Amino acid sequence: MTNKLVTLDDFTINQTRQFPKATGQLSSILRDISLACKIINKQVNKAGLVDIIGQFGATNIQGEEQMKLDVYADEALINVLKRSEHCAGIASEENDDFVAFEDEFSVNSKYVVLFDPLDGSSNIDVNAPIGTIFSIYKRVSELGQPVTADDFLQDGTKLMAAGYVIYGSSTMLVYATRLGVNGFTLEPSIGEFCLSHPDMQMKEDGNIYSLNQGNTIKFEEATCQFLQYCMEEHKEEKRPYSHRYIGSMVADLHRTLIKGGIFLYPADKKNKSGKLRLQYECNPMSFIVEAAGGMSSTGTQRVLEVQPIELHQRVPIYIGSKNMVKKAISFIEEQA
Ligand code: AHG
Ligand code: MN
Ligand code: MN
Repeated sequence: MTNKLVTLDDFTINQTRQFPKATGQLSSILRDISLACKIINKQVNKAGLVDIIGQFGATNIQGEEQMKLDVYADEALINVLKRSEHCAGIASEENDDFVAFEDEFSVNSKYVVLFDPLDGSSNIDVNAPIGTIFSIYKRVSELGQPVTADDFLQDGTKLMAAGYVIYGSSTMLVYATRLGVNGFTLEPSIGEFCLSHPDMQMKEDGNIYSLNQGNTIKFEEATCQFLQYCMEEHKEEKRPYSHRYIGSMVADLHRTLIKGGIFLYPADKKNKSGKLRLQYECNPMSFIVEAAGGMSSTGTQRVLEVQPIELHQRVPIYIGSKNMVKKAISFIEEQA
């Protein structure tokens, strides 16, 4: 049994060996991110103890300020990546601007990392799954200088790697490169992520749709029509489909990756760009889903091809099994 264990490190070292020119720097950043996520995981596991040790964001009995879990996660990632040999800077959903690491090693590092440190934070109180989403780009600015905004405003086709960690019934890291998508489950007794879901592939068809249906009153006509289609009876196509929505993008996408289906956060009459962030949520998830054979669109354009203009920009998203995403888009095209 033990000799079948492949740790995240074993796996990335093996992958690197396939490319004689690879330097292993990307694997090293991944190791750092996975370390930060193990630190976050420990704290997430204590979330149920807030009544005993104090509410996150409030002052505990000892008079110490309890850090909010999303701020804690943000700091854990920043601290680990700052020390990392190969990360030149970061951008996080929690911070207004990117952070350039200006020490003599970091200015010569080749990569930048973007992350949503804690996704689905409204689920903390109810013990439902939450996650961390990350993406890695090669910088475009000159080596030897601190990174610039351009390094963080690259479109998703330039991604080197992306992944997420889901803090669920078990803790799992899903990691994608152009070579494919692999899932690693945290073995708590040895503190290692171990390969548990090799070569994850997305089903072409699915029968689950996932969106915040409570927003129906605001939806555009095309979204309403697609929703109607999902709920309609059709024996051969096994409709009506099932509706599942956790309200944590990581958890909803993780299910979609494993079981097939579609996840959407569309534009609506009030929010013309939807809700989810291009650089921290939509691009990394689109990269992962495409690497697994799925599809991701804003409704009118491949998400990965959207040119970011600012760090915190939002885009509508339709992502998941190819045929379901194509179907949703067909209603948008009809309306146009
Ligand atoms: P975050 O917790 O990082 O702010 O993200 C929450 C996001 C995402 O995880 C989820 O898909 C979406 O918000 C849910 O939004 P609604 O509550 O509007 O459905
Ligand atoms: Mn989020
Ligand atoms: Mn978040």
